Amino acid sequence: MQVPQELGRVLVIIPTYNERENLEPIVARVRAAVPAVDVLVVDDASPDGTGELADRLAAGDGQVHVLHRQGKEGLGAAYIAGFGWALDRGYDVLVEMDADGSHQPEELPALLTALVRADVVIGARYVPGGRVVNWPLKREALSRGANTYARLLLGVPLHDSTGGYRAYRASALHKIGLDGVDSRGYCFQIDLAYRAVRAGLRVAEVPITFIERERGNSKMSRDVMAEAMWRVTRWGVSDRTRALRERGSR
Ligand code: GDD
Ligand code: MN
Repeated sequence: MQVPQELGRVLVIIPTYNERENLEPIVARVRAAVPAVDVLVVDDASPDGTGELADRLAAGDGQVHVLHRQGKEGLGAAYIAGFGWALDRGYDVLVEMDADGSHQPEELPALLTALVRADVVIGARYVPGGRVVNWPLKREALSRGANTYARLLLGVPLHDSTGGYRAYRASALHKIGLDGVDSRGYCFQIDLAYRAVRAGLRVAEVPITFIERERGNSKMSRDVMAEAMWRVTRWGVSDRTRALRERGSR
């Protein structure tokens, strides 16, 4: 696919923590699916050597870049660092993609095509045409539950606000403003979806097929879940108290 000209320069950001077996195939698939895009690997000093492998891939391909971080600080922190790197270098579109093959690079053209008429595009599992392959029932229930909770509490009119396959216009990230974002883990995804909706940005969802990883391990943990739970609850509560206060002062 060729990137629609009006979109400009596109960077695919891939956060990694212990993804040595997955990195090379995913980067190759991205470069094959949309040859014009650049890739940035954001590695948190993976003990398994993913960072060194990323350096080797970058040495062999001028469109592949690496950002090394000191240690494991969470998916959200890695993306904020990657976004900063990309905005400093003038990229026009920033894509989020997992390293483990769950997000199909071959579906990137659909996200980019939708971005022509949107500011943010979310690859969504829980819309007609979207699918999850090989997830245990329990994990899918957790993911669907998190989505329902966020939708009810925050009033976000989305079906997959936790999804991690996305495309943002740089202008959208400037409007959202990343300075106040302190979500560390996966609730970063909900956080940004919520901020995008509140900022009045056009957020579109396109169906994707999410395929559970075959190699390596998920970094989902109790801490990640707990952070998402208390943050979403706190955002929901402060929204409601603010609304009440505004009504009271009228
Ligand atoms: N640099 C860095 N630092 N990368 C991380 C970290 C971290 O602390 N934690 C996770 N990652 C990377 C992984 O290496 C992988 O490339 C990607 O982030 C997703 O991590 P997984 O551990 O594979 O996530 P998952 O499959 O359990 O979760 C998926 O579903 C979540 C809920 O819907 C992802 O799509 C998430 O983005 C999504 O929020
Ligand atoms: Mn995964």
